[in-house]
Amino acid sequence: TNYTAIILAAGQGKRMLAGRNKQFLMIDQKPLIIHTLSIFDLDDWCKEIVLVTNEKERSEMEQLFIDYPIKKDIRLVDGGAERQDSVFAGLSAVHRVELPVFIHDGARPFVSRELLHELAETTSEKEAALLAVPVTDTIKQRTGERLTTLDRNSLWAAQTPQSFSFPLIYEAHQQAKTRGYYGTDDASLVERLNKEVAIVKGSYENIKLTTPEDLHKAEAYLNNQRNGKVD
Ligand code: CTP
Ligand code: MG
Repeated sequence: TNYTAIILAAGQGKRMLAGRNKQFLMIDQKPLIIHTLSIFDLDDWCKEIVLVTNEKERSEMEQLFIDYPIKKDIRLVDGGAERQDSVFAGLSAVHRVELPVFIHDGARPFVSRELLHELAETTSEKEAALLAVPVTDTIKQRTGERLTTLDRNSLWAAQTPQSFSFPLIYEAHQQAKTRGYYGTDDASLVERLNKEVAIVKGSYENIKLTTPEDLHKAEAYLNNQRNGKVD
């Protein structure tokens, strides 16, 4: 089952406190974004890659494809102020609109090929699907002074990739744009159209590198992988 991938790298990485976009941070000899792109580069099912970047970082990004081997053509497009704007820019640059489109955070370098394939196969039956993991924390909801405890069995933490039939996600984004609505992920825009989104159980290793502590987790993960403790 083939698919197109939009990889988002146009953020600023403020919470990483690195003084620059975290996509360029070196993790075990390679920039973060190269780790993420390589997964899609090496997956035969991935037929098209659109990389959304900051306009000002475009040439630095292009240099990375010279310094690190990536086989496939990567189409670079300029992102926007919010993640959702960047996704819309990415969608607008997709050629293979007949394929399901995966939307993925450049800051998630540890998604496995197995999960990509499970997601692709799910999206060939359903129009929308995402990776998510059961929540392990107890989640409290505070309304004024009053606390309630949410039923953990019904709570899932959303990850990326999230995968959609192209016309559906394009429509969802267009509608959100006209209404000035911003959601926290892409699936939420589809949910607003009252369409079902399927869950594919993801992995706790598919973390988003957000804060400096996450870099330690990333190093540990790669160490384990090298020592054959993962996969
Ligand atoms: N992203 C993007 N365009 C934006 C904002 C975010 O393409 N305007 C991308 C980021 O580059 C990242 C992914 O969306 O790969 C998830 O966002 P997040 O983890 O929040 O990254 P940043 O926005 O870069 O970090 P921060 O919020 O800490 O500034
Ligand atoms: Mg952000």
